[in-house]
Amino acid sequence: MNLERFPRYPLTFGPTPIQPLKRLSAHLGGKVELYAKREDCNSGLAFGGNKTRKLEYLVPDALAQGCDTLVSIGGIQSNQTRQVAAVAAHLGMKCVLVQENWVNYHDCVYDRVGNIELSRILGADVRLVPDGFDIGIRRSWQDAIDSVHAAGGKPYAIPAGCSEHRLGGLGFVGFAQEVRQQEAELGFRFDYIVVCSVTGSTQAGMIVGFAADGRAERVIGIDASAKPDATRAQIAHIAASTAELVGLGRTIDECEVVLDTRYGGPEYGLPNEGTLEAIRLCARLEGMLTDPVYEGKSMHGMIDKVRLGEFPPGSRVLFAHLGGAPALSAYSFLFRNG
Ligand SMILES: Cc1ncc(COP(=O)(O)O)c(C=O)c1O
Repeated sequence: MNLERFPRYPLTFGPTPIQPLKRLSAHLGGKVELYAKREDCNSGLAFGGNKTRKLEYLVPDALAQGCDTLVSIGGIQSNQTRQVAAVAAHLGMKCVLVQENWVNYHDCVYDRVGNIELSRILGADVRLVPDGFDIGIRRSWQDAIDSVHAAGGKPYAIPAGCSEHRLGGLGFVGFAQEVRQQEAELGFRFDYIVVCSVTGSTQAGMIVGFAADGRAERVIGIDASAKPDATRAQIAHIAASTAELVGLGRTIDECEVVLDTRYGGPEYGLPNEGTLEAIRLCARLEGMLTDPVYEGKSMHGMIDKVRLGEFPPGSRVLFAHLGGAPALSAYSFLFRNG
């Protein structure tokens, strides 16, 4: 496997810290040791997050092609589009963002605070469109790309979550390599890695990265799309293409794509009671913030799996914290009483 042959443009601080979640582990009975790898504070570019790690592999391609405008898409409170806006500003490029109406949540400030507010401050051309949730390639995104061409610009197209991009899985192959180095320093190996999945390239990259030492099925995806069939299919096909791209030397088996579908409901972008309990518990025991769309759901999944005894006693579990807290202010009504 050879990740090093792909150019990487540094946008992150470097390896992200791994922190023990001691109080949360003790609260849940102390039989399982929980840790967090902090992708949520991986960069000084507008709070960073998992897309910033992925974009390190897309940016050299954009620069090599001489593009002047990054074009991307997501929901109104997309973390992806906020990170693309910050990277464009950092590089001195223009940025066009399509923000679709992915979430059935109605608060008069939803399209003004949080991620979308930051994208506007970062100077992006933010375009709201009414289309609903879909992780695939979208018409509205194609229209935005065409509009940049029509205005004489040179767009670089970045699909939702960077996922349906040839290079979108590479960042999290690198995550697995980084974890292996950190394990060597720590003197132990993690038994499980818990990761939130929606558009799929984060988990797909990890699957390929951890397949290199036979641990792909220890990557436990927690679905936050509430449309898990589409998410699972997208993880599988991105893992297959990424494995080929980096020269893993074998194909990815279906059983290596593990997606727990119990925590994503009721809908993409809407938390359930367990999501909210997990957000509060993690915040109050660890001072670590998670959000109602993504990490609150994977945190709920990890906590519930500990409570159900699904991790054998003595397991060390690594929670990949992928970011998302900038969306919290859009959900302020849910937390009006704490
Ligand atoms: C904070 C956060 N966590 C998790 C995810 C899921 O990652 P992916 O879309 O690569 O499955 C995303 C993006 O969709 C995200 O912004």
